[in-house]
Amino acid sequence: MRTGSPPVKVLVADDQRDVLDSLRLLLKGEGYQVETTTSPAGVLSAVKSTDFDCLLMDLNYARDTTSGEEGLDLLNRLQVLDSSLPVVVMTAWGTVDVAVEAMRRGARDFIQKPWENARLIAIISTQVELSRALRRGQRLEAENQLLRGADLPSLIAQSMAMRPVLERIARVGPSDANVLITGEHGTGKEVVARTLHALSGRASKPLVAVNVGGLSEHLFESELFGHVKGAFTDARTDRVGRFDLADGGSLFLDEIGNLPLNQQAKLLRVIETGEFERVGSSKTHRVNVRIISATNASLKELVAAGRFREDLFFRLNTVEVHLPPLRDRREDIPLLAQHFLGEHSTRYRKHVSGFSEPALKALLSHPWPGNVRELAHAVERAVLMSNGSQIAAADLGLEAPSGTSSRIESMSLEDVERFLIQKALERFDGNVSQAATALGLSRGALYRRLERYGLDHGDDQNDEV
Ligand SMILES: Nc1ncnc2c1ncn2[C@@H]1O[C@H](COP(=O)(O)OP(=O)(O)OP(=O)(O)O)[C@@H](O)[C@H]1O
Ligand SMILES: [Mg+2]
Repeated sequence: MRTGSPPVKVLVADDQRDVLDSLRLLLKGEGYQVETTTSPAGVLSAVKSTDFDCLLMDLNYARDTTSGEEGLDLLNRLQVLDSSLPVVVMTAWGTVDVAVEAMRRGARDFIQKPWENARLIAIISTQVELSRALRRGQRLEAENQLLRGADLPSLIAQSMAMRPVLERIARVGPSDANVLITGEHGTGKEVVARTLHALSGRASKPLVAVNVGGLSEHLFESELFGHVKGAFTDARTDRVGRFDLADGGSLFLDEIGNLPLNQQAKLLRVIETGEFERVGSSKTHRVNVRIISATNASLKELVAAGRFREDLFFRLNTVEVHLPPLRDRREDIPLLAQHFLGEHSTRYRKHVSGFSEPALKALLSHPWPGNVRELAHAVERAVLMSNGSQIAAADLGLEAPSGTSSRIESMSLEDVERFLIQKALERFDGNVSQAATALGLSRGALYRRLERYGLDHGDDQNDEV
């Protein structure tokens, strides 16, 4: 352990004295400060009075039991008391199902008895590091919120499928590493970008977002690097670019997979050197920016197809965070739904507090092709439709996924707009100008909507401005 840092406190709970003794010896030898207790009640009172960095606990307390019931109950209570305390459970050999249940209830890891010393130490030290990073992040987030008065991202994820994702976020968030976030539409890439930034030492500086896939070649440079007055016809004043704005903070490059090759080259240079010039100026600017990028395409495939520069790919994905689709993390659906319910019932001043049993079933069995965003919209709609204290299955309108017309009736205005824009882009092979004409929109208005809905469109570099 580093000298000078505060002692790391570990609480160990087991009803067998000899187990406690040997664990105390082992952990003290590693430099940890150890407290022990022999009962669930002892754990609760210790956690209330002291801030531990990790809790290592047995699941069985009454003599001759192996069901783990008491330990599992204790986990539920600990979640309420302090969900940020990392808990590692000890289970009897061959009771993996109990360990899995423990993880469902919030344990971060498990180790089987009799344990292997090296493995136990490795698990504890990983959990301690993670929780320190997370708690520091939470503190920074809180400070940040005070500074900016801004809403913080709430990243809801308790499923097994999201655990490695959360661990990765906790690990790389505080670093300066460039992160590439991948996942289908609506899986929460932007939420993750905001969380990474909030966890970092840059949290008090801005996170500047730019949808690079939605910019014409001409706009790309002046958006990112800025321009000086007179650089081109419309440049009536100087303009500060996003790289300048993000100096000291993070730059979120959304829809990076849609970036045309020649713009990729320009971006690469800035990422490699931290230097750029405003359009129309020869003065070199130098910035310190962390790049977080996101895409719903597979950059690897784009590289293989010659549509994405490999060198840029390697610069962007120092670390990759992949978000699984919602259908692969159904355990999160009730929590997410409840979260959106709270948000929208406040917003629309409706007294709806939960979901009926059939409504919950419908939520759990829907395929959610639009992922978390689709879920958020479905709940919003249901809140508006509802006239009871609970959301009923019918309020959700999830039954009829077949046939376009019946779908449109149950879609929100935004969804319909998004759907029509998608269709128009498909019809014109991604040509934004033609799609805009067909929709009766100006090109700029269409770009703004593309950005709002995070929609893909093909390269429009031949598209005239
Ligand atoms: N884990 C989560 N917890 C809470 N809210 C979430 C979570 N994931 C997504 N959301 C919400 O779902 C909506 C869509 O998320 P987000 O915009 O981050 O998705 P995305 O992956 O960037 O989508 P796209 O590819 O379409 O840009 C947002 O309103 C966001 O707040
Ligand atoms: Mg997005």
